[in-house]
Amino acid sequence: MNLSDCHNFQDFRKLAKKRLPGPIFHYIDGAADDEVTYRRNTEAYDACDLVPNVLNGVDDMDMSVTLFGKKLDMPLYCAPTALQRLFHHDGERAVARAAEKYGPMFGVSSLGTVSVEEIAALSDTPKMFQFYFHKDRGLNDSILERAKAAKFDVMALTVDTITGGNRERDLRTGFTSPPRLTPRSLASFAAHPRWALNYFTHAKFELPHLQDHVSEGTNIATSIGSYFSTMLDQSMNWKDAEKLCAKWGGHFALKGIMSVEDARRAVDIGCTGIMVSNHGGRQLDGSRSPFDQLAEIVDAVGDKIDVVCEGGIQRGTHVLKALSVGAKACSGGRLYLYALSAAGQPGVERALGNLRTEIERGMKLMGARSVNDLGRNNLRFRTR
Ligand code: LAC
Repeated sequence: MNLSDCHNFQDFRKLAKKRLPGPIFHYIDGAADDEVTYRRNTEAYDACDLVPNVLNGVDDMDMSVTLFGKKLDMPLYCAPTALQRLFHHDGERAVARAAEKYGPMFGVSSLGTVSVEEIAALSDTPKMFQFYFHKDRGLNDSILERAKAAKFDVMALTVDTITGGNRERDLRTGFTSPPRLTPRSLASFAAHPRWALNYFTHAKFELPHLQDHVSEGTNIATSIGSYFSTMLDQSMNWKDAEKLCAKWGGHFALKGIMSVEDARRAVDIGCTGIMVSNHGGRQLDGSRSPFDQLAEIVDAVGDKIDVVCEGGIQRGTHVLKALSVGAKACSGGRLYLYALSAAGQPGVERALGNLRTEIERGMKLMGARSVNDLGRNNLRFRTR
């Protein structure tokens, strides 16, 4: 199987599984507890049907949207994800370049592996920096200042990782950042020589936003679950979020909002957007899916701030369904991470290109000339 055989999300997943050492693949692929929410995030789309209109002259359809004041060529953003150079040696560079070509927004994580300065120099595409609120206030100030100086367009504070999710696949495989060199992990590297050669011959793995402040994740191997539980500040509250929003002074979002009450409070503290998200099912298993929760949140705050539907997206029609409910855009991690792992920049380009083609085809078949033509009258929810 090669990149040219990858026509959809599941194909990229299969190729990533083949090319990555097991612990790394399962870190991306896995979720919390019984992974019910992870599965539900995608299944929710199947409980909703599209009702197309026809004869609408769709030859020059336009899928662009405005998100956080920026025009995007496609209604998507690549969610910020951690540790990307573990998946492919180009990591965030590959994603930034692919985003430049296809026009979604993209995010860089606090736990990213290429610095905000380098990414800013590389790409003019609208970009978001994802902020983890650490106990170490010096670290918090430093990452905020660096993202500001690098002129990132949006800051998103993640609010659903106050403690680590129970990721049992990581417990079983012993996955840590950086990878621990144990007989078992070395055996899995040896079984994937191409990955191993790239990992060991390219620049040393690092977490440039964190490593001058904390050793965990760079010099001290730690699981992501225990990083969240020990390094992040569990006392974080609405006042902290409000202060951070004011300090940032630009477009600011809360990532991981699921309730209407919290969506309203996000508006109250000055946010310009929220990501309706359960962290890809990786935190609270049993949490409702973003798509199921979207309508009530859009009804409450959709006319005041940008609502992004994050997680579970595998197809262009999933994006159409979320936009029809009222999301401004959709986002996801795995939708480009398997492709990154499988083939670097050409992989991400192919994944984004496939999604772009699917959105375009879907909109034409729906009779939608622009995203404004998509609405709830185009949807029917089946009783489950
Ligand atoms: C995760 C974090 C790092 O879900 O976003 O693993």
